[in-house]
Amino acid sequence: MSVDASQLAKLETAARRASQRAYAPYSNFAVGAAVLTARGRIFSGCNVENASYGLCNCAERTAIFSAVAAGHREITCVVVHTPTATATAPCGACRQVIYEFGPTAQVISTCANKARIDTTITRLLPRAFGPSDLA
Ligand code: THU
Repeated sequence: MSVDASQLAKLETAARRASQRAYAPYSNFAVGAAVLTARGRIFSGCNVENASYGLCNCAERTAIFSAVAAGHREITCVVVHTPTATATAPCGACRQVIYEFGPTAQVISTCANKARIDTTITRLLPRAFGPSDLA
């Protein structure tokens, strides 16, 4: 089910604001993300890089881990924002983490202009490995 228009507007604002807090001195690629939980809360996050490059954390995972740390484990929608000309879909690692907490989540990417991607985690990560595989 698609997120409603007022929640979507809030998610887009939260993701855009989060991208302004990105710590990305190595890639100069700022990313912000906002997630909507099943209980209607919004959590946001940015990418956080490190001089030891392999430790960089993506915006989507920062946002999801904040939600989980606050006790929210069900995600219904993820919005990713990059201040770029084209919209960027989540990386493979983030798709896997989105699937863990939002196996039916809507995933929307926005950017500096009207271009956007509006899809689902099922389309981004078909035949996903997940919690049920370990049951
Ligand atoms: N990045 C994200 O935050 N999310 C993605 O889905 C793709 C990549 C970040 C990681 C790194 O800080 C920068 O973008 C360049 O890869």
